[in-house]
Amino acid sequence: MTDLFSPITLRGVTIRNRIGVAPMCQYCCAPAGADAGKPTDWHLAHLHARAIGGAGLVVTEATAVTPEGRISPQDLGLWDDAQIPAHTRLTRAIASAGAVPGTQIAHAGRKASTNAPWLGGVAGDDAHGWTPIAPSAIAAPGLREPRAMTEEDILSTIAAFAATAKRAVAAGYRFIELHAAHGYLLHQFLSPLSNQRNDRWGGDFEGRTRIVLESVKAVRAVMPDDMPLGIRFSHTDWLEGGWTTEETVQLSRLVKALGVDLIDVSSGALLPAPIPVGPGYQVPGAAAVRNGADVAVAAVGMITEPQQAQDILNEGHADMIFLARALLRDPYWPLHAATALGRVEALKAPAQYDRAWSSLGKLPVDLESAEPLTAVA
Ligand SMILES: Cc1cc2nc3c(=O)[nH]c(=O)nc-3n(C[C@H](O)[C@H](O)[C@H](O)COP(=O)(O)O)c2cc1C
Repeated sequence: MTDLFSPITLRGVTIRNRIGVAPMCQYCCAPAGADAGKPTDWHLAHLHARAIGGAGLVVTEATAVTPEGRISPQDLGLWDDAQIPAHTRLTRAIASAGAVPGTQIAHAGRKASTNAPWLGGVAGDDAHGWTPIAPSAIAAPGLREPRAMTEEDILSTIAAFAATAKRAVAAGYRFIELHAAHGYLLHQFLSPLSNQRNDRWGGDFEGRTRIVLESVKAVRAVMPDDMPLGIRFSHTDWLEGGWTTEETVQLSRLVKALGVDLIDVSSGALLPAPIPVGPGYQVPGAAAVRNGADVAVAAVGMITEPQQAQDILNEGHADMIFLARALLRDPYWPLHAATALGRVEALKAPAQYDRAWSSLGKLPVDLESAEPLTAVA
């Protein structure tokens, strides 16, 4: 049995508990100019709050490795050294609240140049839109038709992943996750539904996985040995003729051999598909990767209840639990979970907030000193 509040050590980094903040785009950077891609006050408050709430690992939203790799013009980026100081501010805040700062580095491929979801559609030229690049010139439904990448585009994208990883290390991140899920560039190469190339970057399993393996090698080469590397996969496209769970297991073995320490197992989002969405619906994928590739995995997706999270660990399906929407609703989910599971001693709130948590269920305290009152005024 693995306790939700027990630490986990990946290489030289110890994460205080098994709860991770899943990457979540906030779509609020400047779309252009000197501040494009730089974290804002919003990112600082948002990520710091979730570290204060007790998560062990706090991962930034998809962080673009090139400007053209942004999902929307308002995405976070780390394609330029000038962006490092603003990221350093984030990593310091997250670490100061006891969490490990991580970043998800990403290229959106054919799903680039869209608007924030609350606006919908593609980014127009007036909103700094651009023509995306992809393995093949096949558009995702409703999005711009991409240009098929040349060999040179592919090599420079792999180099961009490595350069971004190097900047992430310089900015103080202690965990890097490669985004190879949700129909973004690396996933587009993996799936035969979006990769119809007939050169060495397409075709069979070896061809379709080549860019992922080369990116992992390039990124691992610029990271310190004691720093863990993760990767997020969509374990299946949920579609006939698409990427499969068996292929994810096979690829997980290969990336583990290249130095990946944690696989974050999600699913879908390459194309619309009949997904059996429900509580913990992606956990079987995480368990398949954990058992089949003998690697640490994070389970994610519709995990909302403390006991549900603890059960997934107890049953040996995952090593970490990543939460997205539950942590948007409640940044204190980990502290609330510790209370709900009767484990208040297992997760301390920061000293500044301790009176709010250590007094739970006890006498009311005087508002300005920590002394218990004998009567309520
Ligand atoms: C607002 C929002 C933004 C997201 N952005 C990203 C992202 O940048 N990268 C990513 O891999 N997944 C992203 N996701 C997916 C989440 O990381 C997570 O896999 C998904 O929401 C399922 O987990 P949940 O049921 O706990 O929300 C996002 C989800 C939400 C709700």
